Amino acid sequence: NEVSKNETRVAATPESVKFLQTLGLSIVVEKEAGLASGYLDEEYLSVGAKLAEHSDCLNHADICLTVLMPSVDDIKELKSNCILIGMLNPFQNIKLVSELNNRNITSCCMELIPRISRAQNMDVLSSQSNLAGYRSVIDAAAQFCKAFPMMMTAAGKVNPAKVLVLGTGVAGLQAIATAKRLGAIVSATDVRLATKQQVESLGAKFVTVDNREANEAETSEGYAKEMSEEYKIKQAELIKETISKQDIVICTALIPGKSAPILVTKEMVETMAPGSVIVDLAVEAGGNCPLSKLNERIIHNNVKIIGYANVPGRIAKDASSLYAKNLVNFLSLITDKENKKISIDWEDEIIKAVVLTHAGKIMLEQFT
Ligand code: NAI
Repeated sequence: NEVSKNETRVAATPESVKFLQTLGLSIVVEKEAGLASGYLDEEYLSVGAKLAEHSDCLNHADICLTVLMPSVDDIKELKSNCILIGMLNPFQNIKLVSELNNRNITSCCMELIPRISRAQNMDVLSSQSNLAGYRSVIDAAAQFCKAFPMMMTAAGKVNPAKVLVLGTGVAGLQAIATAKRLGAIVSATDVRLATKQQVESLGAKFVTVDNREANEAETSEGYAKEMSEEYKIKQAELIKETISKQDIVICTALIPGKSAPILVTKEMVETMAPGSVIVDLAVEAGGNCPLSKLNERIIHNNVKIIGYANVPGRIAKDASSLYAKNLVNFLSLITDKENKKISIDWEDEIIKAVVLTHAGKIMLEQFT
């Protein structure tokens, strides 16, 4: 069970338990750990897992799988030298990192899996953002007082909703696909011109500031660069012009490690029609809209602005399923299937990128 009551996801599903056993691992699941995401204790038992209480799980595990960083008390209960794998978010949990280190725990941060082809099936940020992009549109549709698709009825025509997606990374592209499936007219923007083709292949219109800088907006790792003030002014003009005609805005723009760029100002919100909806997925990084508030739905000038945290947790069964598969793939990398033993290749770039602490040492370069 996760420390945070707001965390509905679970790190192992009955399906992942089956795979984990093929790696030679025997699995103990905390009682009712899967309940909030729709997996019952009986389902785990039926695939060969044992069930145990919280402390028993922590005291005896050689490998502990979790969604988020455990509490300090839980870390104290873990076996010294065990392996802890989860989205540990060390930069927000600095004191807990020292605790992991003091206990000689080998800790692995799944959110730091590098975005290289070999690691795609372990990439938790992609698997979770994909679902967040989908859910953001579902949340918007639930709050919108009109329909998404065009409908011809005997009583008259219902116009299709107009959706604008800001940022077309993993979450943004899935938001586009979902809004299209619901029948909306979709447009999207991103500083990286490389995403234009992907946006258009989903049937959406790509709107962008078309200048020389936009052609160089991508780093060699495929992320966006910080743009110049001149570009930002042009982009603000473009969004201002576009947004007043939209019913729904899905905000997903972010450069990793930076505060979210402000793209939708209070003045722009005030140009939107009453009943419009903004979903700000970037809220945890400050938000693309300065009016959005973490874990709240606010109404400004009759426009609803939603800033839910842990959006993947709002679709917990699938989010857990994909996350658990990411963990299985990572565990396959660190187990010797033939001899059924843990075997870590310390020279592997994936291992170098994710191991935070090991044998009483902080291993992560960014942290030393
Ligand atoms: P990503 O890195 O794949 O995509 C972000 C996109 O924003 C990139 O395509 C980038 O080029 C674009 N971008 C950066 N600066 C921009 C700007 N000034 N104007 C326009 N586009 C810009 O990230 P991903 O995985 O799609 O996540 C998107 C956002 O959603 C992130 O803020 C992430 O933290 C958040 N998120 C929030 C969740 C929640 O529970 N609230 C769940 C999943 C993701």
